[in-house]
Amino acid sequence: MVQKIADEYRLQIITEQNSNNLIVVRAYCEERDKVSVEELERQCDVGQKGKASIFTDLLGDPICRIRHFPLHLMLVAEYGEARDIVGVIRGCIKHVTPGHSHHPLNLAYILGLRVSTTHRRLGVGTKLVEHVEKWCKQKGADYAYIATECANQPCINMFTHKFSYTKFRSPTVLVQPVHAHYKPISSGVAIVRIPPHVVVKIYRQLFANAELFPMDIDAILSNKLNLGTFMAVPKKLLPNWNPETGILPQSFAVLSVWNTKEVFKLQVKGVSKLTYACCMGSRVLDSWLPWLRLPSFPDVFSQFGVYFLYGLSMRGSDGPRLLKFLCRFVHNMAKDDVGCGAVVAEVGQQDPVRAAIPHWRRFSWSEDLWCIKKLRDLEGDECNWIKSPPSSAGIFVDPRDI
Ligand SMILES: CC(C)(COP(=O)(O)OP(=O)(O)OC[C@H]1O[C@@H](n2cnc3c(N)ncnc32)[C@H](O)[C@@H]1OP(=O)(O)O)[C@@H](O)C(=O)NCCC(=O)NCCS
Repeated sequence: MVQKIADEYRLQIITEQNSNNLIVVRAYCEERDKVSVEELERQCDVGQKGKASIFTDLLGDPICRIRHFPLHLMLVAEYGEARDIVGVIRGCIKHVTPGHSHHPLNLAYILGLRVSTTHRRLGVGTKLVEHVEKWCKQKGADYAYIATECANQPCINMFTHKFSYTKFRSPTVLVQPVHAHYKPISSGVAIVRIPPHVVVKIYRQLFANAELFPMDIDAILSNKLNLGTFMAVPKKLLPNWNPETGILPQSFAVLSVWNTKEVFKLQVKGVSKLTYACCMGSRVLDSWLPWLRLPSFPDVFSQFGVYFLYGLSMRGSDGPRLLKFLCRFVHNMAKDDVGCGAVVAEVGQQDPVRAAIPHWRRFSWSEDLWCIKKLRDLEGDECNWIKSPPSSAGIFVDPRDI
């Protein structure tokens, strides 16, 4: 189906080529474009001189970030007579609840926009966004949104000034490095794996008012990247609680774990020799003397993977404590998985789970910015959605977006 969409799209774009010979936008073709796109992504990843930067390796699969959405598209921009690939963009469409209203919406997510450093400010990014938006409209998207860092002024200017997106939500990204030692979990806490068919029921109940809850949650939970959903409950409640029923205990914390290690790897480059030596020294010491429980630094200077936590929720007075232990449990899972360097979560600014998730402030950022735009005329509640404050403190962050 996706290939068919790409083929339809290729035809339309070839027609448009006549009106602008310098920039040609067409669908990505794996055999033809993979090497050039990888080179372009590497070039765009170049960090600032003298500053640490994070580099992403898409593991030889440039389409990996959208592959898990049933409707997705990747476009490339060619420039000039040489028809070099100078830009790339991805888009996908999902069916989500907007929170305020019960009517699900088709929401397009635009991501992975990159323009070669040698071809910026020539309108390449603009052309790519125009085309991806056109595809989103054709496929019935009601809204489109993007996520970027608050400091990415070129991207923010482009979407807000040029394409009339409005700033929408700014969730916080919390990062917990994986240490060389296990983290202790209280003996009074039980951690139970919940089967996917029960999780669907639980999440539909817990996130009934949350924004961006995906209607295909069952597909997410049965994806091979999903490592499971776990619930922490006070051990004393266990005899009277059967997880199979989907009935929630008085006090609990729940989350699901997504293995992004199979999709991309990250690497930190550009740190000073002294920083490198201190970080690696802390790790060596931690693995030799684990009982000291040093907050050691993971080896982020080689490629590392990340576990992404989603569906985080808690209830009852014990909820925050249970969530803390649940995050420790995932940390220990990540420690056992060679090459996993961090556990990451993204939560709403006002979400109470935020305070309970262990994280390192230095690595976390509170300024992820989501910008959104209405793509077609809507009536009723759906129309006012983006102007209203969030319907609940929690945002459901789709792990496929990461
Ligand atoms: C952001 C990016 C895609 C823009 O691509 P581009 O081809 O240079 O963009 P365009 O030439 O089409 O410019 C479109 C608008 O974007 C804004 N813009 C682009 N670069 C800008 C810059 N350096 N400073 C301020 N605004 C900028 C402007 O509003 C511009 O309109 P204008 O030229 O009429 O002023 C490109 O800078 C890039 O690849 N950056 C690195 C990756 C990235 O940040 N991706 C975006 C993730 S959301």
